[in-house]
Amino acid sequence: MTTLPGTPGKLAAGSRWAVETHGLTKRFGANTAVNGVELLVPRGSAFGYLGPNGAGKTTLIRVLLGLTHADAGTMSLLGYPVPRHRDAALARIGAIVDEPRFYGHLTGRQNLRLLAAAREPAAQDRIGPALEQVGLAHRADDRVSKYSMGMRQRLGVAACLLGDPQLLILDEPMNGLDPAGIAGIRDMILSLVAEGRTVVLSSHLLDEVERTCDAVAIVDRGSIIRQGPISELLAGASIALQVECSEPARARTLFAGTTLGTTLGARIEPVPSALGLEITLPGGTGRDVIAEVNRVLVAGGISVYRLQPVQTSLESWFLQVTSRLEDPE
Ligand SMILES: Nc1ncnc2c1ncn2[C@@H]1O[C@H](COP(=O)(O)OP(=O)(O)O)[C@@H](O)[C@H]1O
Ligand SMILES: [Mg+2]
Repeated sequence: MTTLPGTPGKLAAGSRWAVETHGLTKRFGANTAVNGVELLVPRGSAFGYLGPNGAGKTTLIRVLLGLTHADAGTMSLLGYPVPRHRDAALARIGAIVDEPRFYGHLTGRQNLRLLAAAREPAAQDRIGPALEQVGLAHRADDRVSKYSMGMRQRLGVAACLLGDPQLLILDEPMNGLDPAGIAGIRDMILSLVAEGRTVVLSSHLLDEVERTCDAVAIVDRGSIIRQGPISELLAGASIALQVECSEPARARTLFAGTTLGTTLGARIEPVPSALGLEITLPGGTGRDVIAEVNRVLVAGGISVYRLQPVQTSLESWFLQVTSRLEDPE
């Protein structure tokens, strides 16, 4: 790694976080688009910055890249404090914020040759592997004007790879793509992470973030509401326990006065098919509670055919934490 004069090279190499911000704030007049953001992106992760439109995702990325200044807070990228060491950091970062632009009458490979010519000599050697990695090798000699939107996005990432970045920042890379295009982006991101790079992507597509990322920050109105590994966040989400049993209507009444309803705050509802019940248990509920459900039913003379805990998807969990439904604007 080259080290700029005065750059804490060792510190940068040893930093655990690819992105670290504290109290990062950006205002547009009275509108706080980025509000005291404390973001920690682990190195080597696929990290989703997830939130609805207008949540402040693009603004955060623009602040990180120095395209607009922060009003308050500190940040470091790959361990380099920025803006102080922005050049050293940006030399190791590839980013796509706006739709990438290419010459339509040239092929994908020719476009990359032009871009590589403006970089260090090693960049020319990276063209082939970059095209391979983004899944464009077989279309590299077609004109870009014939590329789909997803292929242009992937060519944009190939252009980033000419600089051999440790961190890629992609703003809504799946926006406007069809399912095949989305799958192509997802595969590409997973292969970049498998090589040890860090990929931060912003998205309002909950399902895609859940499928692509290992860790996530959920942002709403400029503020991070929750962040961490998706598996840990979901552990705090409620669990739906599906119960298939005889006499579901009577089974429901058996729980009145048990600890299940009173202490745990479980919601017990009949399922539409009338084959049984669905019991919503709060996050962190232990397996012993499921055994207790079974005991109450059997003691009441109900035949239990099936007990199935179903983990909430990130989508319904997202609605739980943002409480959008109860707090319309
Ligand atoms: N250049 C700007 N000038 C004024 N307001 C802006 C500007 N850019 C973004 N905003 C506002 O900041 C908020 C966050 O926008 P943005 O970062 O684009 O959200 P997202 O990318 O999550 O959709 C929005 O309310 C938006 O209107
Ligand atoms: Mg945006």
